[in-house]
Amino acid sequence: MSAENLVQLLYLISTALFIMSLKWMSDPATARKGVFSGVAAMLLAVAGTLAGVATTGGTHYWWILGAFAIGSAIGYPLAQVPLTAVPQRTALSHAFGGLAAGLVGTAKYFLYFGRGDALSLTPFIVVALVAEILLGFLTFTGSLMAAGKLQEVKWIPQRPVTYPLQNVSNIGMLIVAIGMGTALVMNPLAAWAPYAFLGVILLSLAFGVLMILPIGGADMPTVISILNAYAGLSAVAMGFVLNNKLLITAGALDGSSGLILSIIMCKAMNRSFANVLFGAFGQAPQATEAGESKAYKSDTTESAAQVLEQASLVVIVPGYGMAVAQAQHKVRELYDLLKKRGITVKFAIHPVAGRMPGHMNVLLAEAEIPYDDLVEMDVINGDMPQADVALIIGANDVVNPAARSDKNSPIFGMPIIDADKAKTVYAIKRSKNPGFAGIDNELYFLDKTFMLFGDAKSVVGELAKQLAGDNGH
Ligand code: TAP
Repeated sequence: MSAENLVQLLYLISTALFIMSLKWMSDPATARKGVFSGVAAMLLAVAGTLAGVATTGGTHYWWILGAFAIGSAIGYPLAQVPLTAVPQRTALSHAFGGLAAGLVGTAKYFLYFGRGDALSLTPFIVVALVAEILLGFLTFTGSLMAAGKLQEVKWIPQRPVTYPLQNVSNIGMLIVAIGMGTALVMNPLAAWAPYAFLGVILLSLAFGVLMILPIGGADMPTVISILNAYAGLSAVAMGFVLNNKLLITAGALDGSSGLILSIIMCKAMNRSFANVLFGAFGQAPQATEAGESKAYKSDTTESAAQVLEQASLVVIVPGYGMAVAQAQHKVRELYDLLKKRGITVKFAIHPVAGRMPGHMNVLLAEAEIPYDDLVEMDVINGDMPQADVALIIGANDVVNPAARSDKNSPIFGMPIIDADKAKTVYAIKRSKNPGFAGIDNELYFLDKTFMLFGDAKSVVGELAKQLAGDNGH
C-alpha cells in the first residue's frame, strides 16, 4: 500500500469512528464507548497527519508532535473540572478550535500572498479562507466570553448588556466584514488585500464579544451549542483550504450536531432559534424583587418522611442544586428505601435542568438509578396530578409555574415540570434565593408546598435516615 493510500485509509477509519462516536454518545448506555471511539478517531487523525508528512517528504514531525504534547498537557487538566463546570469547559474547547482554524487560515493566506501565488488563491479557496477566519475568530472570542460568563469571571458582565441600536450595529459590523471578504475574493493579491484580511480578523474578534454581551441567563447553553456549530463550520472551511477530507467530514459532523443540539435546546426552553442565533434579539431575563413579603412554610424531615411513606407515587424532580450538593448517591438511598416500601418512585427529567444537556441523567446514572425510572418531562407531566408527593431536590426554574402563566416573566413559555399539580410538594434548597433565571418561584408559596431548607445532600440523607430508622421498628 502506498503511503498516500495509508493516509486516506487512516482518515477513513477515523471518520467512521467519529460518526460512531456521536451515535454511541446519544445513549447513556453506550456513552463511554462513544467517548473512547472519539479519542481513537482523533489519535488516528494525528497518525494520518504524521503519515501525510512522510508522503510529501517533509521533516516537520516535531511541530506536529510538539503541538500534540502541548494540546494534551492543556487538555488533560481541563478534563478534571467538576461536572457543574462542564459547560464553560466545553466553551473553552470551542474557543481553542476556533482559534486554531483562524490561525491556520491566516498562515495559509500570508504564505500564498508572500509567494504571489495566484494559482493557489482561487476564488473558491479565498471564500473558504474568509469563512474560516470569520467563523474561527468570532468563535474564539465568543466562546471565551461565554465561558467567562458561566464561570462568573469578575470583569465580564454577567447580566445581559444592551444599548441602543445594538442589533443594527452588530449586523452592520458583520456586513462590513463580509464586504471586505468579498473584496478579498475578487483581489486576493492586491497591495491592500492583507489589510482587508486583518480587518476581517479584527471585526470577527469584536463581533464574537459583542454577540455574547446581550445574552444572559437561560440562553447561554444554547449559545455555546451554536458556537460549537460555528467552530465545526470553520473546520469545514479549513478542510477545503487544506484539501483535507477528514477535516471536512469531522467539521461537518461537529457543525451539524451543534446545530441540532441548539435546536433541541431552543425547543426545550421555548426560545426562538433566530432570537438566540442573533443574540441581541433575545429578551434579557430580569431579576425581580417580588414575593419578598410572602411567607414560606418550612417543615422538618421527620414529618416529610411520614408523608413520603404514606405515598403511593412519589415524583422526584432533581435540579442544579442536586448537582452542586453531589446528592445523587443519597438520592439513590432514598429511592431504594421508598421502593422497598412498595412506593412507586419516578424521576422527572427536565431537558435543561442543571447546567448542561443530560446533566441529571449523568448524575442519576452515576448513582445507578435504573434508566426506566427517569421519565421525560412531557410524559411525567401526565402523571403529576396523581403524584402524592413531588419532591424537588435543588430545582427551581424548571418547576416555576410563572413559565406557564406570567407573560412578563423572563421564562414565560418555557415548558416546565408541573410539580404544582402534585397533591403535596416538598422542596429542598438552602435558602430563599432564586434559581438561575433570578426570579421568584410562586410554587414555594402554595398552600400544599413545604420547604426543607438545607444542603440537598444532608437533607436527603436525613430523610433516608428517618425512613431507614422507621424501617427497623
Ligand atoms: P436553578 O433554577 O438554577 O435552581 C437551582 C436551585 O438549587 C437554586 O434555587 C438553589 O437555591 C438550589 N441549590 C443550589 N445549591 C444547592 C445545594 N447545595 N443544596 C440544595 N439546593 C441547592 O436550577 P434548575 O431548576 O435545574 O434550572 C436550570 C436553570 O439553568 C434553567 O434556568 C436553565 O435554563 C438554566 N441553564 C440550563 C442549562 C442546561 S443545558 N441544563 C445550562 C445553563 C443554564 P439555594 O441557593 O437557595 O440553595
